[in-house]
Amino acid sequence: MKQSIVVRAVDIGEGQDPGFVAGAAHLLQHLVANGAAIGWVEPPSTAEVAELLQELCLASEHGDASLLSIWIGADLAGLGYWRRYQRPTNRPNADIEKVAIDPRYQGHGLGRQLVRQLIGTAVRAGIEVLTLDFRGDNERAARLYRSLGFAEYGRLTGFVAVRARRYDKVLYAMDLRHRQDDGSRKDLIGQAVERGRGSG
Ligand SMILES: CC(C)(COP(=O)(O)OP(=O)(O)OC[C@H]1O[C@@H](n2cnc3c(N)ncnc32)[C@H](O)[C@@H]1OP(=O)(O)O)[C@@H](O)C(=O)NCCC(=O)NCCS
Repeated sequence: MKQSIVVRAVDIGEGQDPGFVAGAAHLLQHLVANGAAIGWVEPPSTAEVAELLQELCLASEHGDASLLSIWIGADLAGLGYWRRYQRPTNRPNADIEKVAIDPRYQGHGLGRQLVRQLIGTAVRAGIEVLTLDFRGDNERAARLYRSLGFAEYGRLTGFVAVRARRYDKVLYAMDLRHRQDDGSRKDLIGQAVERGRGSG
């Protein structure tokens, strides 16, 4: 892809900007209308997406969420976010609730970049365990998350209802307590430094 790719945090001003809200709503509506498994059976209304964006931007001001957008030039190519768990005993942890790449831009590494950056913002926010879940038939998502280091910790058979159909809900997690800001593993970096010292 020749045009520049930019990943950035959505702040409260942008989250309320009607142009951004309309673009985000269109992206999510289009994906759901074409069968994407991102938690909606019917495409969400623009008002529902606006409310979600506002909630996320407010939460991100307090370190309780991270909403990232990915841009190809002036085009909104994707969105993703994590949010802290609300239960007091679970609050050190967060859940990646949605990752969505515009179908025009899928398969070019954008999903990978977005999730990598979400791991980075989670590490910097001090999140201990990052979880996510996806529909059992979403092999593309499974491969992406596994390749970034997430591991399956559970599966609920036939839990996801899309009209009369039932799909598994697959649960993945990544422990960030041993990760650097960029998502790489501290212990491996430590070993490399040690090896470097030993040979010098
Ligand atoms: C799942 C999704 C986020 C992946 O984003 P993407 O930009 O298309 O993926 P990338 O190009 O970054 O590829 C990342 C990895 O995904 C997997 N992948 C991508 N396209 C694939 C395909 N057609 N078949 C199988 N695996 C595929 C591969 O493991 C790939 O890594 P590799 O290229 O090193 O082999 C995107 O397809 C999407 O938005 N899908 C609809 C919404 C959704 O399902 N979201 C995730 C559930 S929460």
